Amino acid sequence: MATELHYLISSLKSYLVELRETGVDGLPYGYGVATVTPPSVVAEEPAQLETNGISGSVRGSETVAEIRLELGDCRRCQLGDTRTNLVFGVGNEKSEVVFVGEAPGRDEDLKGEPFVGEAGQLLTKIIQAMGLAREDVYICNVLKCRPPNNRNPQTEEIEACQPFLLRQLQAVSPKIIIALGTFAAQTLLQSRAPISQLRGQIHDYHGIPLMPTFHPAFLLRNPGKKREVWEDMKQVLKLLGREPAGS
Ligand code: URA
Repeated sequence: MATELHYLISSLKSYLVELRETGVDGLPYGYGVATVTPPSVVAEEPAQLETNGISGSVRGSETVAEIRLELGDCRRCQLGDTRTNLVFGVGNEKSEVVFVGEAPGRDEDLKGEPFVGEAGQLLTKIIQAMGLAREDVYICNVLKCRPPNNRNPQTEEIEACQPFLLRQLQAVSPKIIIALGTFAAQTLLQSRAPISQLRGQIHDYHGIPLMPTFHPAFLLRNPGKKREVWEDMKQVLKLLGREPAGS
């Protein structure tokens, strides 16, 4: 019974997320129109549900859609006031590979999708060279909202966003995370070491292997560094037991 109830709530939440992402923010009910219950309220309930006879938190078995719903129209930091769209993440939520960047830029803020600008096009090419399609992997950022004028993220913004990223990564539960650039690598690994030192080796992020590498935007300015990124991606492919495209 508890399992069925949990499944029902989970399905309902996924449906509500889908509705909201397609622009629906209210549902007809009875004689009037009731708005969808605020996400933070809906999402907190299942955390107390009984699942398989075990009471308590269901964290760890939560879905990406549940986390998105709880995030809602996030105002947990000041970036909520200046963003156009919250950029949650895109791709296969069951992927073996997750790419994590820094924060949405202008193009991403406008579209609500990570890595859609010039750097994103280069990332897509890297993914394809790995023998994968963009839709096969999951892509997100450390910050879900654009810092105005692409300024550096501030501590309180990172602190507000981090718990959601951790849960998102645990929900996808990939075989490997690829941290793109200094900021993502240093934040996820809680390190101050430069990316040139962190890259090239597989690290650990809460039990998930993590490969830091150069950010595609950096590669656009320093194309000579693409060779090092490719070395990193070959290590990733080895861990996955896959071959690069065309081999
Ligand atoms: N740079 C990032 O780090 N993330 C994006 O989504 C786009 C550019």
